[in-house]
Amino acid sequence: MEIVIIGSGNVAAILGRKFKAAGHTILQVVSRNASAASALAYEWNTESANYMSLLNHRADVYIIAVSDNVIHEIIQSLRLPGKVVAHTAGSVNKDILKKVTAHYGVFYPLQSLRKETDHLPEIPFFYEGSDDKTSKTLESLALSVSPGFVAKADSEERTRLHIAAVIVNNFVNHLYALAEDYCKKEGLDFHQLIPLIEETALRLKTTSPSQTMTGPAIRNDEETIQKHLALLKNYPKLQELYKLMTESIRGN
Ligand SMILES: NC(=O)c1ccc[n+]([C@@H]2O[C@H](COP(=O)([O-])OP(=O)(O)OC[C@H]3O[C@@H](n4cnc5c(N)ncnc54)[C@H](OP(=O)(O)O)[C@@H]3O)[C@@H](O)[C@H]2O)c1
Repeated sequence: MEIVIIGSGNVAAILGRKFKAAGHTILQVVSRNASAASALAYEWNTESANYMSLLNHRADVYIIAVSDNVIHEIIQSLRLPGKVVAHTAGSVNKDILKKVTAHYGVFYPLQSLRKETDHLPEIPFFYEGSDDKTSKTLESLALSVSPGFVAKADSEERTRLHIAAVIVNNFVNHLYALAEDYCKKEGLDFHQLIPLIEETALRLKTTSPSQTMTGPAIRNDEETIQKHLALLKNYPKLQELYKLMTESIRGN
């Protein structure tokens, strides 16, 4: 397919790389960020533009990968009759695009994407189209970059998935960041915890997380819990989270 990517951030970069690797042609990258757009255009041997007024109108598909709160602004005067146009936001309704074309939808990558990554991660895609043509086009685009990880999801289902994604990714990652900070302050090496993190994540492929919990909370080891809480007295935020998580694991 011939594709135009609007945006030059994390999602734009990773999707563009995936599209290129699958043999699609990226006709143009359009972004207000001139240096990011031209870096991606150079990488993909294509052209870049910094204004929506310079948008190439010859593509089959337009992927809008900008911050959720600016999609509305970006598409104010965008009209692409006959073209398939989709945004990539988990929690934005597809109807935001309905004035742009009759063939609008969502192309949501359920993955944590960072443009500086040195590999192309596996990405489950959830798509939704305003009509059959859009759904088929977005499904086929998703399957071309992610065979086996593609499903249809309407706005409500996508939002529920987004909530689950925030919990397993952003919240867990925040706990890693707090633990890293704690390790630094206590003169410990955070990297020594990585085999533990990997093992816990790997188990999820075969076993429900509810079946694999270990540690003082599930064992009701009150003595250890109280000792940990006392040692966390100089880390009030961590101490509070420790209490909250312990209660949650205990089912309270
Ligand atoms: N990253 C993820 O893991 C992920 C996963 C699934 C879905 N998504 C969704 O994908 C979309 C893009 O996310 P992202 O992670 O790629 O964000 P990002 O890396 O922060 O990139 C955002 C893009 O939007 C542009 N932008 C921001 N404000 C703008 C404005 N006022 N006018 C014009 N352009 C503006 C940015 O340009 P500047 O560089 O000039 O700011 C940049 O090109 C979002 O809807 C997000 O919810 C993200």
